[in-house]
Formats: sequence, C-alpha cells, structure tokens
Amino acid sequence: MNPRTSLDPVTVDLRLLSSLDVATLDTVGGTLGELDYPVAGAPTGRALVDSYLRRAPDSAWALFRGGAPAGVFAVVPYLELAGTMQTSTYLAHAARGTGLNTAVKRAAITAARTGSLPLYSSVHHANTRSLAATRRLFVSIEPVQVAERMTGRLAWRFELSDPWAQLTNGPVHQGLIDQLGATFRRPALQAA
Ligand SMILES: CC(C)(COP(=O)(O)OP(=O)(O)OC[C@H]1O[C@@H](n2cnc3c(N)ncnc32)[C@H](O)[C@@H]1OP(=O)(O)O)[C@@H](O)C(=O)NCCC(=O)NCCS
Repeated sequence: MNPRTSLDPVTVDLRLLSSLDVATLDTVGGTLGELDYPVAGAPTGRALVDSYLRRAPDSAWALFRGGAPAGVFAVVPYLELAGTMQTSTYLAHAARGTGLNTAVKRAAITAARTGSLPLYSSVHHANTRSLAATRRLFVSIEPVQVAERMTGRLAWRFELSDPWAQLTNGPVHQGLIDQLGATFRRPALQAA
C-alpha cells in the first residue's frame, strides 16, 4: 500500500493556530522541536508558530493526524509579488513521506484555483526535498529561478494556482478543500 495515496482524510485535521490555547501551541511547537530546515527564519517549532500567528493569524494551521500534532501549514503574503500569497509548511519528521504534505497542498491548490487566489510556493534552491515534493504534485510544472529581494536568497518559484499546471491524480479531500476555500474567500486574503 502506498502511504502517499492511502491517507485517510478523516485523520487529517487542520486547526487554526489562533484558535488554540497556549498549552496546545506549546505542544505543537514542541513536537517540531528545533527546525532542521529553518522556515521563516525561525529556529524552533515554537518560534515558527509565533511567527505564523503574527503574520497570518487567519490562515495558519496546526496539522493533526489521528489526534496528534504532525506539523504546521500557513498561507502567508508573498512579498516578492504584490497581491499574492505563498504556502509555508513544516512537518514533523514522522509525518514526512506519509502523504500529508501532498494532501494538504493538493487541497490548497484546488481551493486557490476555485477562489482565484494567486498562490505560489517559493523554495530555496538547495532545499532538494521540498523541491521534489512540490514537483511531484504536478504532471509537469516549470518553476522559475529568482533572486528574491526580500529574503536575499536564490529560490525556485512555483505558480501553484496556474490552471495550466495539471495536478497529478490522487485522493481528493473535499473537507480540506472546503475549509481552505472558506479561508481563501476572506477579504483579508483576497486583498493581500
Ligand atoms: C518540505 C516538506 C513539507 C515536504 O513534505 P514531505 O512529506 O517530506 O514530501 P514528500 O514525501 O511528498 O516528497 C518528498 C520527495 O523528495 C524526495 N526526497 C527525500 N529526501 C530528499 C533529498 N534529501 N533530496 C532530494 N529529494 C529528496 C522523496 O523521495 C520524495 O520524492 P518522490 O516522491 O519522487 O520519491 C517536508 O519535508 C518538511 O516539512 N521539510 C522541512 C521544512 C521545509 O523544508 N519546508 C519547506 C520550505 S520551502
């Protein structure tokens, strides 16, 4: 059985970080521990949680599987391109390679396309795992290499909401799509 295609949608649960109490935020952050790949410049899971709460309180979630924290996912303004958003993900080690990333990203991309939200992924040029994970979402996609002004880094930019970039076949998690779609329709995100 391929774990990437057998993910049980019932066990995937996105909980808004801003709805969680401090003890749960501590647990989520603690599960991630020290980040092996610093996201948003945060050295620890708890710092990343705080960063998301500051920057995207309405579109940052803790990911739970089987009731246990498995990572964080946020849609934050993509400062390189005015009026657009980008995904940001950090999974606990045990949650990597399980299909969780694919399920959440596929749902986010579908919801963004339905809601006409310009959604990007910007991946550091040396983050080979994230690059492979993003590529494998699509039948084919041509990212653009850019020198980002805001971060000063060389990155591969994927236009996730490009309707011509066909998603690979896989399970559809309608509950996730609906949840993310409702968030993407909020005026705060549409006006970013
Ligand atoms: C990036 C991340 C969200 C991807 O989720 P994931 O569950 O690990 O991704 P997947 O398992 O779906 O895909 C990973 C792919 O990379 C491959 N891979 C694994 N390690 C790799 C490495 N060191 N170099 C290149 N490819 C690698 C896997 O084989 C897989 O490709 P395949 O399906 O063709 O075999 C997760 O790894 C993570 O949280 N990493 C740390 C934080 C991070 O880098 N976030 C992204 C910032 S842009």
